[in-house]
Amino acid sequence: MDIKDQVAIVTGGGSGIGAAVAQWLATLGAKVAVVDRQTPAAISIAEEIGGIAYACDVTDATGFELVLNRIVSELGEPRICVNCAGICPAAKVVSKTGPMPLADFEQVIQVNLVGTFNVMRLVAHRMCEAVPLNVDGERGVIINTASIAAYEGQIGQTAYSASKAGVIGLTLPAARELARHGVRVMAIAPGIIATPMVQAMPAALQENLAAQMLFPKRLGSPTEFAKLVQHIVENPLLNGSVIRLDAGMRMSAN
Ligand SMILES: NC(=O)c1ccc[n+]([C@@H]2O[C@H](COP(=O)([O-])OP(=O)(O)OC[C@H]3O[C@@H](n4cnc5c(N)ncnc54)[C@H](O)[C@@H]3O)[C@@H](O)[C@H]2O)c1
Repeated sequence: MDIKDQVAIVTGGGSGIGAAVAQWLATLGAKVAVVDRQTPAAISIAEEIGGIAYACDVTDATGFELVLNRIVSELGEPRICVNCAGICPAAKVVSKTGPMPLADFEQVIQVNLVGTFNVMRLVAHRMCEAVPLNVDGERGVIINTASIAAYEGQIGQTAYSASKAGVIGLTLPAARELARHGVRVMAIAPGIIATPMVQAMPAALQENLAAQMLFPKRLGSPTEFAKLVQHIVENPLLNGSVIRLDAGMRMSAN
């Protein structure tokens, strides 16, 4: 799909990977809806790139439906959706204070998995109704953000890894279901990308993670993620798969 002039929704677009994707797609000529629950951050990115900010919690079924209606009337039918909203709190199953509160586990699943699905189901519905864009009959592409923690999560990542494994799990069945409507579904599983989420970790942990990269031995940049988004949108043969973007990293047990 040609990106120029298409409407792109980027959740989590107020920070880190989502902000870089929003900026990159805008540079390529997309009309970008920056969706985030951090309103000031989303407004600032949207202003910078000539897009529109939408304050929304991705887990809110009615809230995102209303936002989507506004996006359609203010920007047009969405053809690209990149789900980057996510949280990454670490907690052990059993710590000195006792078992992990169930609500903590549920919260991570709610944001990372249910929130991704909520946005995907509503955007996919719009895409299925839209006119095809090209000779392939392509109507849209949805890209969800997983993590290599879905495959080799570390101690403290049970909730996060489970949420991202869920994102990976829904990729193929969603792609299979939406294929007859010309809508593709892909996921990207990043390694460690230098964003506020990672920069909030202790410096020693960041160094330990960077040392586990095969090559190059550094954290990834959010723009490197955005460049993969561009390629997925432009290459119609990419569908129903999860791409690792990790410099060959396999996270160790510790
Ligand atoms: N940074 C990494 O190394 C890395 C690695 C693997 C996967 N990821 C995933 O990439 C995505 C982006 O991460 P990041 O590093 O840019 O993090 P970040 O914290 O910089 O940005 C995440 C954004 O999501 C928004 N958000 C969180 N919960 C939300 C909600 N319920 N509704 C709407 N917006 C919400 C936040 O406000 C924030 O702006 C996340 O899904 C994360 O799990 C990141």
